[in-house]
Amino acid sequence: MTRLGVNIDHVATVREARKTIEPDPVQAVLESEKAGCSGIVCHLRKDRRHIGDNDLSRIKDVVTTHLNLEMSVDPEIVEIALRTLPDETTIVPEKRQEITTEGGLDVSGNYEKVRDVVSRLRDKGIDVSLFIDPEERQAEAAKKAGVDTVEFHTGRYAEAFIGGGDHEEELETLRKVCATAMGEGLRVCAGHGLTYANVGPVARIEGMYELNIGHSIISRAIFTGLYDAVKEMKELLR
Ligand code: PXP
Repeated sequence: MTRLGVNIDHVATVREARKTIEPDPVQAVLESEKAGCSGIVCHLRKDRRHIGDNDLSRIKDVVTTHLNLEMSVDPEIVEIALRTLPDETTIVPEKRQEITTEGGLDVSGNYEKVRDVVSRLRDKGIDVSLFIDPEERQAEAAKKAGVDTVEFHTGRYAEAFIGGGDHEEELETLRKVCATAMGEGLRVCAGHGLTYANVGPVARIEGMYELNIGHSIISRAIFTGLYDAVKEMKELLR
C-alpha cells in the first residue's frame, strides 16, 4: 500500500489568518496519526506564512510516525533543520511571492548548493528527498546529488485534471519517469495538487512509495473532521 504523508501546513494557515492560537497544527498531528497516516509533513517557509519555528519544535515532540520537513536551501532554514533533526527533509524551491510551491527544484541548475545541503543533512542522519518535476534529467541530477528519494511534483497532472486538459498524457509522463527513477535505485514519492478525485491513478503507479497530500485533506476536514478526511484518503491509497 502506498504510504500517506499528511501535510498540515494549512491548519496553521487558518490560524495565521487571525494571528491567534487556533487551530493548532499539533492537534492535526494527533488526529492524522490516530487516523493511520504514515507520516506528517510540514513546510517551514522563510516568510513563516503558516508553520512557525515554535510549531516545528512542538510537532517534532509529538510525532510518533515520521516527520518530513519541507524546506528550501536557505541557510537559516538549513540550520533549523540541523538542530531539529526531523526524520526526513524534502528540499523544495521557494519563491516569496508564490501561493504554493509552483514547480520542482532545478537540481541540475543549482547542483553545488543542493549537493552541499544534502550532505550536511545526511551527515546528521536525516534522510533527504528532493522535490522535482517529472523529468529524467532532474531525477539523474538528484541521484548524483546523493539522495535516495525523490518526490515528483504532480502539479501539471493535477492542473490538467481540473482544467480538463490531457491528464492522461501527464500521467503517462509521470509513470515513465517514476519507472526510470526506480530503475536508478531511487525511492519514488509524489505530491502536490492531489485530491480525492485524482489521486487513484497516481497511487496505482507501480512501486510508488508515498504520496504527500495537504490542501485537499485539510479542505475536506472542514466538513468531516480531520480524522475522517485522513481515513478516506488512506482508503483511496489502499
Ligand atoms: N509535497 C511537497 C513537496 C509540497 O511542497 C507540497 C505543498 O506544500 C505538497 C506535497 C502538498 O501539496 P498539496 O497541499 O497541494 O496537497
